[in-house]
Amino acid sequence: MKLWYGRFQSNVNEAADSFNSSLSFDKRLYACDIAGSKAHCTMLGECNIIPDEDAKLIVKTLDEILNDINNGKCEIKDAEDIHSFVENELVSRIGAIGKKLHTGRSRNDQVALDIRLYLRDAADDIVALLKQFASTLTDIAENNLNTVMPAFTHLQKAQPTTLAHHMAAYAEMLLRDISRFEETKTRINVMPLGSGACTSTPYPINRQRVAELLNFPVITANSMDAVSDRDFVLDFLYSASVAMMHLSRLSEEIIIWSSDDYKYIELSDGYSTGSSIMPQKKNPDMNELIRGKTGRVYGDLMSLLTVMKGIPLAYDKDMQEDKECVFDAYDTLKASLIVINGLMKEAKFNVTRLRECTDGGFTSATECADYLVGKGVPFRDAHAIVGRLVIYCIENGKTMQSLTLDEYKKFGDFDEGIYEAIKAETAIMRRTAPGAPSPDSMKAEIKQLRKQLK
Ligand code: ARG
Repeated sequence: MKLWYGRFQSNVNEAADSFNSSLSFDKRLYACDIAGSKAHCTMLGECNIIPDEDAKLIVKTLDEILNDINNGKCEIKDAEDIHSFVENELVSRIGAIGKKLHTGRSRNDQVALDIRLYLRDAADDIVALLKQFASTLTDIAENNLNTVMPAFTHLQKAQPTTLAHHMAAYAEMLLRDISRFEETKTRINVMPLGSGACTSTPYPINRQRVAELLNFPVITANSMDAVSDRDFVLDFLYSASVAMMHLSRLSEEIIIWSSDDYKYIELSDGYSTGSSIMPQKKNPDMNELIRGKTGRVYGDLMSLLTVMKGIPLAYDKDMQEDKECVFDAYDTLKASLIVINGLMKEAKFNVTRLRECTDGGFTSATECADYLVGKGVPFRDAHAIVGRLVIYCIENGKTMQSLTLDEYKKFGDFDEGIYEAIKAETAIMRRTAPGAPSPDSMKAEIKQLRKQLK
């Protein structure tokens, strides 16, 4: 039966009924809905708004319903939404007393509470997974302090660095993702119940008590705002979008690095797929899917931003559209984090290949210029000299390492020391500033990462 049947004289149209129903997706909120109802009912009893023994019976029955749903004994079906379902089930079990539960409450503040309870746990869940993945990347960094590889800008080889430096860069992004979700959680963690449909309720309710029972540090300040605010859902979706963007960038690199031309990394069989026609194929589908699914999560954020932009205060049914966005973004980010964490744990970096590729593309050109600066040449002039040296190498099929000293001397004030100066290892060792790739700088960064991941 509809919660609002009294005002209606005939049944709602079948198509309209199914269009209106949110049960197929908001059933995920059942445990939150029951937790919220228990707290509300306990408070109603304590404040003598309903008889204490009625409150106790309702709470006990709600617990039984929760158990039965968890054990598969009670199937969630045949209701407009999860709130209606729980209430109908309660009334079917204890009759008239169950009808007292909704005293001083509206589905508008009820759903606002449910989604906050749900997202509070979801944010914790995502933070835990982000921490795991950041630790995995930090482990890879720690094991590769001396694994030399090229750093790129514009996907052109730029300067020598280490795999530790590259992986720790992603760990830093994940740390910021963690803090974004933690901050989002402080805005989620506000208790809206007691706001009623939009102007609260005349019953002598105790909102602080409900907050205490549900472990919320604060309550919402304005009942209109409380039932119509979904910015905390948008915060969650934005945080999820940024995290997906980071996973997508890493995935893009994994895809490039696992190609035959790069061969920087080999994915384990467990995290690769094959081709139905080309027997040789081992494809990085997981990373492609993460890159692709990033689009969905952005879509979830854009959907809800658009849903919210034109609706007047207070509650409007448009807001029911928040749920599929948030469930989809949460599921997608969660699955992506689990998969990419396992994938990176099992991936093998080709250390020899990374080292070989470091000298290509004149990655030592900056070192060569800095070497001349050390001899008193102004940097801009040194830059131009090395630019001409690079042209000479290209035209004569040489590298900076294979040039003879006589050849070097034609361009400027070079001596034997140039060969040591242009080694990738030298370039890395000399970069000792905080945040730089020298092993000592990286050890310090890794120590900080570990501290923040605790
Ligand atoms: N299913 C609704 C939602 O998700 C619950 C609130 C319904 N409130 C109402 N006044 N119809 O937003």
